[in-house]
Amino acid sequence: MRKLLFTSLFVLLAGLPMQAQGGPEALIPRPVSYMVGKGAATSAKDTEVRLGSRRFRKKAATLPDFAKEEAYELSVGPEGIRIEALTETGVFRARKTLEQMRLAGPELTCCTIFDYPRFRHRGLMIDESRSFKGKDFLLRQIDAMALLKLNVLHLHLDDSAGWRMEIDSYPNLTRTGAWRIGDGYFDWEGGGYRFASADTPGAYGGFYTKQDLREIVAYAAARHITVIPEVEMPGHSLEVNRSYPELACRNADGTPRDWSWDLCPGKEDTFRMLEAILDEVMDIFPSPYIHIGGDEAVMKDWPLCIDCQRRMQEEGMTEVHELQGYLVRRIDAFVRSRGRRIIGWDEIVETGLPADATVQSWRGSAGGRAAIAQGHDVVMSPNTHLYLDYYQDLIRKEPRAFGHLQSLRHVYSYDPEAGIPDEVRHHLLGVQGNLWCECIPTREHAEYMLYPRAFAIAEIGWSPQERRSYDDFRERTLGFLPLFQGLGYHTFDLAGESERAQSFCFERSSGQGYNYVLQDDGGPVLSYGWDSGVRIIVADCHGFRDMNGNGLLDPFEDWRLEPAVRAADLRSRTESLFEILSNGDLEAMFRSGAAENPYHAVNDL
Ligand code: ACM
Ligand code: ZN
Repeated sequence: MRKLLFTSLFVLLAGLPMQAQGGPEALIPRPVSYMVGKGAATSAKDTEVRLGSRRFRKKAATLPDFAKEEAYELSVGPEGIRIEALTETGVFRARKTLEQMRLAGPELTCCTIFDYPRFRHRGLMIDESRSFKGKDFLLRQIDAMALLKLNVLHLHLDDSAGWRMEIDSYPNLTRTGAWRIGDGYFDWEGGGYRFASADTPGAYGGFYTKQDLREIVAYAAARHITVIPEVEMPGHSLEVNRSYPELACRNADGTPRDWSWDLCPGKEDTFRMLEAILDEVMDIFPSPYIHIGGDEAVMKDWPLCIDCQRRMQEEGMTEVHELQGYLVRRIDAFVRSRGRRIIGWDEIVETGLPADATVQSWRGSAGGRAAIAQGHDVVMSPNTHLYLDYYQDLIRKEPRAFGHLQSLRHVYSYDPEAGIPDEVRHHLLGVQGNLWCECIPTREHAEYMLYPRAFAIAEIGWSPQERRSYDDFRERTLGFLPLFQGLGYHTFDLAGESERAQSFCFERSSGQGYNYVLQDDGGPVLSYGWDSGVRIIVADCHGFRDMNGNGLLDPFEDWRLEPAVRAADLRSRTESLFEILSNGDLEAMFRSGAAENPYHAVNDL
């Protein structure tokens, strides 16, 4: 009887809700240092703020200037809460630390936290072109970023799949460039890349008005977050050429080239347009940097265009890619004349870069390291680690995505300083995760891909490398995710992550280009890369899909080719792939449609 009573009491007590308590050990990103005192304080206490005290100035004296800006000390004691900082930004970061602690429960652990960032640039990029997400979505992500001490939101505002900002001087950019036939990116692609207008039945699209963008910029600024707009050039610009065909590259008879993905660097009108757009953009976005894209220009029309050829002759160019360098340098001079600086994807390093241009490394980290060696500032957002559109768990579990497995562990493993000599490390501005949205049609899906991997990016960017440990980070993330979900965010289910993703870290990387691996044990590891060090092509971004209904295995359709050429290109790639595989089962499985999703067929081998 006594035993029964004791057991019942134990069960009763164990069933009582614990008083949850927020403490510094649970924070994301992990603070630089903290001390835990005795006891707890009620979180309702008033907060005293001291700005620029002599004591705190001394404490922060040895930090680099950018870290001083954001440094803070937060003291929680029974008598109250105190914040010390040198700037309002520091105060704001401290308030977000406090907010995270308060999310955990009604009481706070007594503690003192001294904290400051590792890097000045801690960013996320959101692709608004492939799927348009709208103002409310962005404001919610800005709130999440603030909570995680991320401080740069890079908006990819235009690409071939849609122009997303109102431009008064070139209204067709939104009249036609913002609307397409095909809700999803691949629907649009499969339907032949058709554009429309807002009133076309079934049209998909939208754009930010100037008022929307001003609100977004102000909302972010109030949270000490800078919004960097990207105006993509000269590649990824089909929508511009369809909105203003007279600006596209021209055939010898003067007619516009129909499948021109790049802007025409031969025409003065192209520069007139870009400068007008940039002026309107700079009027809305006060950021010191303006992103000018620069990636993946196809350059297939430039050798055939009468205007580009004339430009090459006039400028004494012998190689067609010099046209990209010409465009980048002119735009750089223009942006600099307005008191701003350009940032561009790492391709711009290859075509003659203006001295003070900043480079964003995406094809691995090698381009970033090369740019640093040349004296440029760099933001690292390598597709080897920080591409948030890539799979975060086994293909069979996940919605369709791109690339190789970039599990939380894999993202977290990235050290942006690796391979950069001490004496030039000041050129490394920081890190950024990129969320491209070809495979991400909805807002919920976008959040699912962002979180919790954005937590890892926040910690890479903020916490000292020597304070980072994945096991500890994962524990904190498992604790924080339910609280974050309680704020309404839709996240990946980390608790349900496969064993494979938990243990897998994609180590092998040439540092340049794409590397895709089949993710399961037991089957052949299949991938391809520009380094060609790997055996076989299979699980790439487009995967196995019968996109045109013509029975073609489509491992890496090259969207830049004209449709007729592309079909032949796919056919030959398919044939050579089957030859390489020499795997009748795989081919039969694909051709028979035995697997509902061919990805699964591959993954289940
Ligand atoms: C990129 O991913 N093309 C920058
Ligand atoms: Zn041209």
